[in-house]
Amino acid sequence: MIKVAFYDTRDYDRPSFEHYGALHGMQFRFLETKLNEVTAELARGADAVCVFVNDTVNKEVIDKLYEYGVKMIALRSAGYNNVDVRAAFGKIHVVHVPAYSPYAVAEHAIALLLTSVRRIHKAYNRTREFNFSLNGLTGFDFHGKTVGVVGTGKIGRIFIDICRGFGMKVLAYDLYPAEGSGIEYVTLDRLFAESDIISLHCPLTEETRHMISADAIEKMKKGVVLVNTSRGGLVDTEALLDGIRSRKIGAACLDVYEEEADVFFEDRSGHIMNDEHLARLISMPNVIVTSHQGFLTEEALNNIAETTVKNILSYFENDGLCDNELCYRCGNIEQCRKERKEKCF
Ligand code: NAI
Repeated sequence: MIKVAFYDTRDYDRPSFEHYGALHGMQFRFLETKLNEVTAELARGADAVCVFVNDTVNKEVIDKLYEYGVKMIALRSAGYNNVDVRAAFGKIHVVHVPAYSPYAVAEHAIALLLTSVRRIHKAYNRTREFNFSLNGLTGFDFHGKTVGVVGTGKIGRIFIDICRGFGMKVLAYDLYPAEGSGIEYVTLDRLFAESDIISLHCPLTEETRHMISADAIEKMKKGVVLVNTSRGGLVDTEALLDGIRSRKIGAACLDVYEEEADVFFEDRSGHIMNDEHLARLISMPNVIVTSHQGFLTEEALNNIAETTVKNILSYFENDGLCDNELCYRCGNIEQCRKERKEKCF
């Protein structure tokens, strides 16, 4: 029986995993704590660990898991910026869920955007108190506006399709433009300069960290609406706060935040918020923060569980080949063995 230790789990994670795990006789241990140098110990006896976006999977943690006999790290997310894949190479196989519902995230980005631009969050609070005044609730039409999309992968493309449905003009930037897609690719500078709305859908890498910097904000249109459902590290929070204070940024819709690891997914309502930046953002009337919930739909949760269970089985019961394995060679055509249907190591 394959034993899996799940880190950072919540009630909503369990039903779909229990369903798919039971089909294959897997034994799951659900832990609420996040994985880090201290909690790695809890994985003793497990064949695999299943981790999420805010678990720490650095070299030290990987070495400990390896020492305890863990053979696989199964990410139940698409993004893997929290895993040191180079340190894992040769020791522990790392798999992820490349796509589970890009619709979930793209639709959440639109939900945030509509809420912000049409002031739904304010209207909701007002009418609950029988305040039917419309003062301060003026929004703007999406139709005819320009939206700049950074990253035109699975989520970015669906976001673009939805924006086109609203009659928006779409400009895009991607390191690897999708040939023949009919998307108008421009430089990042032009995207910044011409967009009324900017939405981020690229991964967090060393190259993209703080791509929304003070310099970048300086180049944007006054009143631009920034949407980030990708990773918090794409945005320099201090620069964002300055941009909002100077009225350069008209509104920000954030499903992710640079320092989210210690607060998101937790009920902190009875605590004093120690993170001054987050407290400041939340206090601003033109900022909407959700707690990394873009993925949170029934369809996505089911797909995540089904793919994760298949990923784990492919290693332990099949030939050890898994299309969803990640290693530092991924994307490197000459070195990537997975492309040649061989084991990564
Ligand atoms: P994807 O891999 O299909 O697309 C990413 C795109 O970004 C690719 O087209 C790639 O060429 C492009 N890209 C890579 N480096 C770039 C750079 N330096 N500049 C511009 N573009 C660059 O990924 P997908 O599924 O569309 O996901 C996008 C991101 O959404 C993920 O990396 C993840 O961080 C985030 N995400 C957030 C979730 C949430 O719950 N809020 C859930 C799932 C993903």
